[in-house]
Amino acid sequence: MYEIGEEEIEALARLIRGKKLFRFGGTPEKPTETDLFERELGTHLGAKHTLAVNSGTSALICALVGAGVEPGDEVLVPGYTFMATALAVLNIGAVPVLTEVDAGLMLDPLDVARKIGPRTKAIVPVHMMGHVADLEPILKIAKERNVMVIEDACQCVGGSYRGKRTGTWGRAGAYSFNFYKILTCGEGGAMVTSDETVWQRARIQHDTGTAWRDDAPELKVPVFAGENYRFDEMRAAVMRVQLKRLEGILNRLRARNHGLRERLGQPATFEFAPVHDLAGFAGTAMFLRLENRAQAQAFAAEAGKRQLSAGLPYDSGRHVYSNWEPLIKRRGAFHPARDPLATTEAGKAQAYTVDALPRTLEHLARTVSIGIGLDWNEQQLDEAAEKIKLCGKHAAAPVAAQ
Ligand SMILES: Cc1ncc(COP(=O)(O)O)c(C=O)c1O
Repeated sequence: MYEIGEEEIEALARLIRGKKLFRFGGTPEKPTETDLFERELGTHLGAKHTLAVNSGTSALICALVGAGVEPGDEVLVPGYTFMATALAVLNIGAVPVLTEVDAGLMLDPLDVARKIGPRTKAIVPVHMMGHVADLEPILKIAKERNVMVIEDACQCVGGSYRGKRTGTWGRAGAYSFNFYKILTCGEGGAMVTSDETVWQRARIQHDTGTAWRDDAPELKVPVFAGENYRFDEMRAAVMRVQLKRLEGILNRLRARNHGLRERLGQPATFEFAPVHDLAGFAGTAMFLRLENRAQAQAFAAEAGKRQLSAGLPYDSGRHVYSNWEPLIKRRGAFHPARDPLATTEAGKAQAYTVDALPRTLEHLARTVSIGIGLDWNEQQLDEAAEKIKLCGKHAAAPVAAQ
């Protein structure tokens, strides 16, 4: 979370006084808060259809179901993302295929080309920590090989790649509004798409087979059994205010990122990890590349002593595929009969060993992630740059000297 305050409190108070807390039941003259939020988010990000849901995971499931990914299909996911990306695939009976990340820690187009096979239905680039995946080559390969792209933009709401917002490039995109995200209402998410069928299928999936919806009779796709991922009016009221804060937050993050890079100049002891769109990325963190894991660890330890917010993506638990227990232990569902790893040819063929992605592990092991302060002033930027330089020197010094 970056910013929340009186405006959100007022919006919630207004809503509660009005006593209308259900997301459906609006009219063209009197839309619900959720109707308005969906419209505003879609307009802001440039998406034709927006479906607000209760989490980023639900948004991913809606995107996959909506796009027609089926049980037994393979879906390429990067080895560095929150585990939910892969589990959403399993949840619908499809099979995640672990794919390497590049030096910028985003899905590697070269490995995407290698991993696409006859069973591949979709590719899920993930925009981690406000950085953007290299979408152009990924979309090119997807087109050539006739597979879909579904973006996981849960950590990159509002970011853009070559002038177009993350989440709006592929068949569908997913955002999360959980507490740790750029915009938040505690828990929540949204799926965007410009495809009418994807949208209709997603709406059925998210609303218990459209039990409550006024426009159910107008659906052009057959109704099937869904679940309940509905958004609610309280979250919508908060998110409408949060959305107004989005560009301010992004501009401040980008300004701090650029200010820090300028101050660091051409560092001798580390390098900046590649960023695929420095002007458009959401930049919640800066990735620095050291020579190896030992140096990255020494950097982070020194940063801790200097009160500099620095983390090791390698040690970020369930953001690294080797810690995705449901895959490694081959428990893809609560029961083997529902587990695509046990019931489908694609699932049985996946090895999911902890060393499946050696290049991903190497990139992660030598990277340090610096948290960017939204409100850093010039002096704090100077101090952060100075600390980073000192940590870099410390990390690069021979081990005996430390
Ligand atoms: C990259 C990524 N994908 C998916 C999710 C799932 O979002 P949620 O926690 O809202 O279900 C997250 C949340 O942490 C995430 O970071």
